[in-house]
Amino acid sequence: MISLRNVLPVALLASSAIFPSVTLAQEQQQQAFQLACDSTDASNPPSTPLDDWINSLLQVLHDNAKFAFEQVVVGFAGTEDGYDVLEAMWEHTANGGAGENWSLMVPSDDAFTKSGLASPYASLDAATLYSLFTYHAVPLSLSSAINASSSHTLLETLFPLPNGDGQVMIAERGQPDGLKVVSPVEAKVKTDSLDEGSSSGTLSGLELFEVDTIVTVPATLPTILANLATSTSTSAKKSGLALYAAALNNTKTLNTLTGFGSGGSKGLTIFAPVDEAFDGSMTSGDVAAWTKVLAGHYSPTQTLYSNEFANTGAKVFMSNGNAITFTTNSSGTFAVSSDGYSSAKILRSDVLLQGGGVLHVVDTLLSAAALQTAGPGGKNGTGPAGGVGFNLNGGAAKTQAGAMVAAFALAVGFFGLI
Ligand SMILES: *[C@@H]1O[C@H](CO)[C@@H](O)[C@H](O)[C@H]1NC(C)=O
Ligand SMILES: *[C@@H]1O[C@H](CO)[C@@H](O)[C@H](O)[C@H]1NC(C)=O
Ligand SMILES: *[C@@H]1O[C@H](CO)[C@@H](O)[C@H](O)[C@H]1NC(C)=O
Ligand SMILES: *[C@@H]1O[C@H](CO)[C@@H](O)[C@H](O)[C@H]1NC(C)=O
Ligand SMILES: *[C@@H]1O[C@H](CO)[C@@H](O)[C@H](O)[C@H]1NC(C)=O
Repeated sequence: MISLRNVLPVALLASSAIFPSVTLAQEQQQQAFQLACDSTDASNPPSTPLDDWINSLLQVLHDNAKFAFEQVVVGFAGTEDGYDVLEAMWEHTANGGAGENWSLMVPSDDAFTKSGLASPYASLDAATLYSLFTYHAVPLSLSSAINASSSHTLLETLFPLPNGDGQVMIAERGQPDGLKVVSPVEAKVKTDSLDEGSSSGTLSGLELFEVDTIVTVPATLPTILANLATSTSTSAKKSGLALYAAALNNTKTLNTLTGFGSGGSKGLTIFAPVDEAFDGSMTSGDVAAWTKVLAGHYSPTQTLYSNEFANTGAKVFMSNGNAITFTTNSSGTFAVSSDGYSSAKILRSDVLLQGGGVLHVVDTLLSAAALQTAGPGGKNGTGPAGGVGFNLNGGAAKTQAGAMVAAFALAVGFFGLI
């Protein structure tokens, strides 16, 4: 991961206000950024090179009929944090600056219309403007990625996580369709960059690509689980996470995991077993035993995306102390628990979670040994069934959209990435 500490002003990262679970200080006055400051007007301060650069960006968006995103940039530039991000972008890319190539995905006007966001977009609240801009900004050149050979790729954006990394999005490259974002939502990046016209000199180093959908920051775990609980996108079998969601809720593990992202977290990786994995074990074990089993399915300290699976050294430590390593053979990629008891096939990878976590769907329970050894109601049938009280009707945790995603018509993209 590129640390955003090298990219964004440190003060910005330190500001908890930029994280969407926190309400941004509303006192930030959004003044419409002055398009084409009139320097002959004594009441206007002379424009700075940065202001000129922002005006060029607005002009290019305008000339390409990206009126909605133009409004977003106007509103964003009028916020303190937004102006700082634009300054960082300018410093890294502009002539005479660091000369890097960065990219901005520009949602089309249609993308805004279908998002359900209310215009005027320049007046959106500062937190929404912040996520709209930074989650579409990538501190690298997209042009080389767009027509590259097909592969699954992580794009790190400027949307900052509590640990200082940028929130990723998952994209797939490959002709003839170019680059497609597949998570957290599906969005197609146009293969030709926007025409920068006479501004191309000024904006050199900044690549602008149209994207047909607003890419919203990942949703919270309860929202993801609710969306996946009834997922039938593969087959009738091995599809839903309703039982896993119920198990998390009934053991109160959900509370632990949902607190993730509110600050200070280093990472979160979840291996979420599909409903079938619970077959035959639902009446076994008490809450304590199930809490242990579930603790073998998440790491509260590491975020491990699918691009690590092929690394032989890749290891992620679960909350119960077990380590998970990965192996791939002709039947697929497997997560192997160091308890020696279980391995689980990864059915889907890289479902992104708010706060920088990631969830991989697996076909088998890991660390289910706790059910067999942990007292009454164990799988061996000794003692009365503890009765965790799982809601077998699929009572997944109720949707509770995060503050940031609430404004959008949330569509959680969930695709077979493996
Ligand atoms: C930026 O892109 C230009 C044009 O594609 C290229 O010539 C240049 O080498 C790139 N700069 C860096 C630092 O990658
Ligand atoms: C990708 O390929 C298409 C078709 O060959 C071309 O029109 C387009 O300019 C390319 N895009 C980039 C960013 O190189
Ligand atoms: C969550 O667990 C509580 C008990 O802790 C239970 O009352 C509630 O019905 C459960 N909700 C769902 C959706 O399963
Ligand atoms: C692939 O690896 C998994 C995990 O070690 C194992 O359970 C499975 O039998 C293996 N399949 C084949 C075809 O080797
Ligand atoms: C259940 O079976 C396992 C394996 O046979 C054994 O190690 C364990 O002690 C048994 N647990 C109980 C509660 O009998």
